[in-house]
Amino acid sequence: MSKTASRIVSEARNLVAFSGAGLSAESGVPTFRDATTGGLWKRHDPTKLASPQGFARDPQLVVEWYAHRRRAIAQAVPNPAHRALAARDDILNITQNVDDLLERAGAQALVRLHGTLAADRCDSGCGYRESIDLADPPSLRSCPRCGDHLRPDVVWFGETLPANVWEAAESACRRCDVLLIIGTSAAVHPAAGLIGLAKASGAQLIVINTQPSEASELADIELLGNASALVPEVLD
Ligand code: APR
Repeated sequence: MSKTASRIVSEARNLVAFSGAGLSAESGVPTFRDATTGGLWKRHDPTKLASPQGFARDPQLVVEWYAHRRRAIAQAVPNPAHRALAARDDILNITQNVDDLLERAGAQALVRLHGTLAADRCDSGCGYRESIDLADPPSLRSCPRCGDHLRPDVVWFGETLPANVWEAAESACRRCDVLLIIGTSAAVHPAAGLIGLAKASGAQLIVINTQPSEASELADIELLGNASALVPEVLD
């Protein structure tokens, strides 16, 4: 099965990779819903932490929780799946992940659907944004431009994805002829809708995941196993 997947990938004219938390799980970054790795949300209520309401209610708690996640990401290193994806300059990576492991592996063409933890921004409209050191994450602080609280530069529950980011992802999934779907439950929209869009546009879907997911029924090929083993094999 993975030989067929490798052949399809080698013949692809326009290859896109769509990734989720499972891509970074073997680097030690907890997933969100995957019971086997003690999914992140199982220990925290996302509406309390990753939402504008949660931030308004307790900005200190939210910033402390993100500092904990940022330090964990700083400790993590790209795994063979990140490196295999980054080594292919013919692949556009669309990721739901907010870690910087694909960048650290050297990936150039990257669409970050849910933003990045490697920056903070101000939501007051002043447009302030600054990169942060994941190994030494900032505590709750005010925007130097307008005085509002700065927040992680990620998309929270209830927030819309940046229009330009969504358009780039939609257009790539309409045009690709092979979509590699790696380490995602495909449970969260609108991101997961890109899978059906690629399928409807005629792409072949290859799913790499440790368990069946909401992408399984659309998959032309589903490889169940670890991304760090299967992604290099399929991209070889
Ligand atoms: N290799 C491949 N797949 C793996 C691995 C691994 N080593 N470890 C876990 N997985 C799979 C799990 O089986 C699961 O289906 O990765 C998937 C991770 O799913 P989720 O935890 O739901 O993460 P994700 O799909 O990225 O969530 C989407 O939800 O909470 C929001 O913004 C958050 O971007 C996130 C979005």
